[in-house]
Amino acid sequence: MNTTLVQVLGAVAYGERKAYEIAKADAESAEDEESRRRFRKVAAEELRHYKGFVARIEAMGADPERAMRPYRTALDRYHGRAPSDAVSEAVFGYLGEGVADDLLRWLRQVVDADTAAFIDTVIADEVEHEAAAASDLRALLDTAPGARVRAARATRRMLLNMLWSGRTNAGPMAAFVRLGRPRDLLGALVAGHARRLRAIGLGPLGLPVL
Ligand SMILES: [Fe+2]
Ligand SMILES: [Fe+2]
Repeated sequence: MNTTLVQVLGAVAYGERKAYEIAKADAESAEDEESRRRFRKVAAEELRHYKGFVARIEAMGADPERAMRPYRTALDRYHGRAPSDAVSEAVFGYLGEGVADDLLRWLRQVVDADTAAFIDTVIADEVEHEAAAASDLRALLDTAPGARVRAARATRRMLLNMLWSGRTNAGPMAAFVRLGRPRDLLGALVAGHARRLRAIGLGPLGLPVL
């Protein structure tokens, strides 16, 4: 059994479980029928991802709960600090979906064929989630007063939060690094982050582009 891979799949599975819980809560608190429907669809997809990764862990002969356990604290802490104002929340949503996409794309290159085929179906859903999160954020940036400055600040906070939550060896990022090719991984994350900020009109450090 590839224990490092089991650890990474444990981190990803727990991340999907958190994404499911968040989308479910968003659906419950949605103010109109259209957003309720949208969040319900996302929740159903995140649940499918979660169950799929759990099944992959089981197929490798490992115990999913055990594989997920080391990452609970870091991921709970990360999501527990999610901001409450609309602009920061939209930034967290957008960049969070994006980081997940980058990690999955990188992961699919280093796993077995069955797991890669499953990850492809997950990426197809996540690309949609990222696009929806981007259009939410763009709409806010165009309408809310002072939104760009707040978004820039939220971008930096989000990065710090991510680094802070993953600062222990048990952090999800550390598991990915142990899987090998850390330079490729870091390159993909940095490039993805810069690309996403550009897509919403912010510079690499979250500074507004003039
Ligand atoms: Fe997902
Ligand atoms: Fe997602």
